[in-house]
Amino acid sequence: MAIKDWNDTLANLRINGARLQETIEVSAGIGATDNKGLIRCAATDEDKVMRDYFAKWVKEAGCELTIDEMGNMFAVRPGKNRDLGAIMTGSHLDTQRPGGRFDGILGVLAGLEVMRTLNENNIQLERDFILVNWTNEEGGWFAPACMGSGVWMGNITKEWAYDRKDRDGETVFGKELERIGYKGDFPCDYKKWNVEMAYELHIEQGPMLEGEKLQIGAPKGILCLHWYDIHLEGTANQVGPTPMIGRNDALLAFSEMNIVVNKVAHQMGNMVGTVGEIQNYPNSRNIIPSGVHFTVDIRSWDDEHAIKAWNMMKEEFEIIAKRRGCPIRTEEFWKVEHASFDKELWDRVVESSDELGYSNLRMVSGAGHDMSEVSKVTRGAMIFVPSIGGRSHVEVEDTPWEDCERGGNVLLRCLLKSGQDY
Ligand code: GLV
Ligand code: MN
Ligand code: MN
Repeated sequence: MAIKDWNDTLANLRINGARLQETIEVSAGIGATDNKGLIRCAATDEDKVMRDYFAKWVKEAGCELTIDEMGNMFAVRPGKNRDLGAIMTGSHLDTQRPGGRFDGILGVLAGLEVMRTLNENNIQLERDFILVNWTNEEGGWFAPACMGSGVWMGNITKEWAYDRKDRDGETVFGKELERIGYKGDFPCDYKKWNVEMAYELHIEQGPMLEGEKLQIGAPKGILCLHWYDIHLEGTANQVGPTPMIGRNDALLAFSEMNIVVNKVAHQMGNMVGTVGEIQNYPNSRNIIPSGVHFTVDIRSWDDEHAIKAWNMMKEEFEIIAKRRGCPIRTEEFWKVEHASFDKELWDRVVESSDELGYSNLRMVSGAGHDMSEVSKVTRGAMIFVPSIGGRSHVEVEDTPWEDCERGGNVLLRCLLKSGQDY
């Protein structure tokens, strides 16, 4: 394309916001809850239906679709020079249980919208353009999170991922992925792809952009994610005749530990610590709890700081466990180190937003994303749009359509610039 035409393209080309909305609304009908949310966990029947739509849409957009051993779906739109490293975008189509209509979904479907826009304007980038739907980013049913991207970049193994049990402990991930027909043959390995750079558009999932009345967020990276499992043993007994003194109540020990997690996170600062999941056994109102399993999630920009916090928590847990007569077992379940994005791509997000006249903010992502993994093996950056009330991982998660469109336009512009830049 001549320079003049190219400059015209950059100045004038925009995604079709109405079409993006329509596509997101189709997705919002698959696994819909009564409260406007979604339950569409990875490797479930709802996930299969959504994946079938995605496969149909990318084929209609002229892409070649590859499904790897983890069910990651890569739609490739060939560039003019296939020897150049590809430019990748995408996110995830699975949700929390329950979750909202935008987390992950916006990034995949805005990538599709960019592809449709390029198609109808007959624009072929120099580089291959890969649109990806990563498998099980949420980890809400089969933990951990970022499973597909984590195997792809080598943080976890495929075998370990296949063996993960669902939250009820009834089935394993690999079997379910196969059952829904999305366990592909292609090796799940970034080295099988020649990716030069990647962008992920996502809702912010926090209150900053809305609070500052800004339109686009440009994170410099993502906090680390450290996940732990804790198992406590108590002694079950009839609640009525058993005196208060001398009980080994696992739930009571847990209650003290939950306070410790919150206290240490406050004391240390520059981090967050959360207990989000707990199973209490046998979970009966008239039996003293004989077992508790709970999780701890610790996040910080500084991995060492997060590890120090965990060690402090663990030390206090052990003291409580001893005092309450409840044996404790702790397990480091999963770790993703903090991610620092590529400075040039980060700047490109800001520059593209400025050029489009969108107000913006440089920030940090507290939420984990597939880009936490992807940016460790290729150059990566993200684009955020506001979350209403700063809320996500809830059914009422929402983002105004105009903001979705703005995010799509920034993504388009970043891809146009990066797709020609070699
Ligand atoms: C992913 O959704 C996370 O931040 O936990
Ligand atoms: Mn997400
Ligand atoms: Mn999420």
